[in-house]
Amino acid sequence: MKHIPLFSSLAPEHIGLLADRMEKREQDAQTILFRENDPGDSFFIVLSGTVKIYRTSPEGDEKILAVFNAGDSFGELSLIDGKPRSATAQTLENTELVVMSRAHFLDMLKTHFDLNLVIMAEIVQRMRDTNDQVSDLMFFDVRTRVIKSLVKLANRFGERSDHTIVVQMPLDRHELSQMAGVKMKELNEVLYDLEDRQLVKMYASYFELNLIKLRSLLR
Ligand code: CMP
Repeated sequence: MKHIPLFSSLAPEHIGLLADRMEKREQDAQTILFRENDPGDSFFIVLSGTVKIYRTSPEGDEKILAVFNAGDSFGELSLIDGKPRSATAQTLENTELVVMSRAHFLDMLKTHFDLNLVIMAEIVQRMRDTNDQVSDLMFFDVRTRVIKSLVKLANRFGERSDHTIVVQMPLDRHELSQMAGVKMKELNEVLYDLEDRQLVKMYASYFELNLIKLRSLLR
């Protein structure tokens, strides 16, 4: 718990008290934690594994809004405003979480003023990311959106190996297309072209990319 960034400003004894109010859960891959429009009753922190946050269209298409891993928290919006869940949360792999009830979450914010600022900063960052996503969808072509999504995944999940960045893929290709907001066919065309140019190498569960060259394509 003391390694969770949200709690980094708290004294160990306060973290201990909060830990007593949280329940640890181990979830299998592909478990729906809650759905868009469900009532919001709990707050989640990821200890290990990955969770995707997405919206679904009336036709059943999905748009991935965010991918969270160790240290990230989610589920705060509906607890703060009392409205239904703004999106669906689903695990992408076996995932360990800690879960706090709404009453304990609100009580925690009343007791620890600093945590309000941390949560606010997180919500502000998400709003900035959402603005980026909206302008990417409005102003950028398919190719740029795919490259931006690859760069985003590399920044979040990538590990350096010689001159390349290796990204263990928490998402399959279909989910990558849902993150970039492009069709599968469009995604594959861009990936083939990037592979031809030796900027990206795709494997079953990971990809390698030349981050410096890919970033230079975005300028
Ligand atoms: P809540 O609305 O309770 O449930 C869905 C959660 O997904 C939400 O709280 C946030 O924690 C998270 N979420 C919703 N929209 C976004 C977004 N655009 N970017 C990142 N996280 C989001």
